[in-house]
Amino acid sequence: LPDSIDEIFQRAKKGRALFQNRDALSPEFIPDQLPFRESQIRQVAQILSPALHGSKPSNLLLYGKTGTGKTAVARLVVERLHAQDASKEIVTCYVNTRISSTEYRTLAKIAESLPLEKDKQIPGTGLSIGTVLDRVFNAIKASKIHLILVLDEIDYLVNTYGDDVLYQFTRAGEHVEPGLLTLVGISNDLKFKDELDPRVLSSLGEEELVFPPYTTDELRAILATRATIAFKTGVVPDATLNLCAALAGSEHGDARRAVDLLRVAGEIGEREGIHQVTEDCIRKASERVESNRIEDALRSLPIQNKLVLLTASRFPDGTNTGDLYMAYEGLARRLGIEALTQRRVSGILAELDLLGLLEAAVVSKGRRGRTKRIRLLIHSDMLGKVLSEDSQLLSLL
Ligand SMILES: Nc1ncnc2c1ncn2[C@@H]1O[C@H](COP(=O)(O)OP(=O)(O)OP(=O)(O)O)[C@@H](O)[C@H]1O
Ligand SMILES: [Mg+2]
Repeated sequence: LPDSIDEIFQRAKKGRALFQNRDALSPEFIPDQLPFRESQIRQVAQILSPALHGSKPSNLLLYGKTGTGKTAVARLVVERLHAQDASKEIVTCYVNTRISSTEYRTLAKIAESLPLEKDKQIPGTGLSIGTVLDRVFNAIKASKIHLILVLDEIDYLVNTYGDDVLYQFTRAGEHVEPGLLTLVGISNDLKFKDELDPRVLSSLGEEELVFPPYTTDELRAILATRATIAFKTGVVPDATLNLCAALAGSEHGDARRAVDLLRVAGEIGEREGIHQVTEDCIRKASERVESNRIEDALRSLPIQNKLVLLTASRFPDGTNTGDLYMAYEGLARRLGIEALTQRRVSGILAELDLLGLLEAAVVSKGRRGRTKRIRLLIHSDMLGKVLSEDSQLLSLL
């Protein structure tokens, strides 16, 4: 039950502010020190440095699991490169293709960083991709710019739209001359390379750099540095940092998870009116961050996958493939959507298993072959809550 307003304020008065600079733990904050990434920083800087005497560096691809510092390193180095450039010919542009979400908006964002003539601006919609690309290339050429283009979460762009635009960028050479165009691609999905046209891959990946996950000790040191900026002195005991690092390192050393946990734990501590960020705050934060992750995963599922999950939730004690499929067909009929074949549903079950949302373990039925034992791994309340946001499913809930 929610606290009464007065209770909330009473507690806030009793306690004190634990943060001195909460922004230092926000996702947008770029620290000016990135411990344990010195070698990556140096390599990226070395690869890009020819830009400072007017030649074109190799294109570059940064790889590594989520939260390993790719975005932070790329942004830091590109920012410094820009600051060092006396010629003022270097233009740097950072776009996260997942956030800009469409091919068109990604290109429009790139165009924003270029000096486009009045009649060559990019409107919100309406031009063909080819026209927008021409305008981008022409602007680089006409103003003899060297564009250093960072395409973050580039796998999103490629998986959603294919690699045509990327191909154009890797072949831009003559189109932009006497200007220059250098690409820095970032991805946390190693498989995306398989989707690329080999010509695109060889050009984009002229140089490749892998970011390893952080060790728990490294995470602890990173957290300690961030905590000193973010919190008042004496507010975060070592034991708290240790637990936070251990939890964030439990899958792979993910600095984002570590920083998120610490921020949420600090917020919990302030709300509870206590004087320190305790290990208990970290545990509570971990539950919340974890359930947010699951909710986000659920929200982004296609409708058929949601329906399969919903079907599984109707069997609190678990079920097998055959019974699940029959129930699924019934629900699909009630929704008025086409039921997939049993094979496709099996495929979806395997995907949901990989996401940790349900368990689909193969069991042998002796001579009658094999089936899967299926069991939901998440709370059906949470499932109901998130699925009810989907208007298509409302009638079943
Ligand atoms: N060496 C480091 N020192 C301090 N903070 C770091 C370090 N590495 C990463 N961080 C912080 O951890 C968070 C995640 O880092 P970053 O965004 O660079 O990860 P990423 O590799 O781009 O992950 P993703 O693939 O999910 O985009 C950021 O808040 C970043 O500031
Ligand atoms: Mg990133």
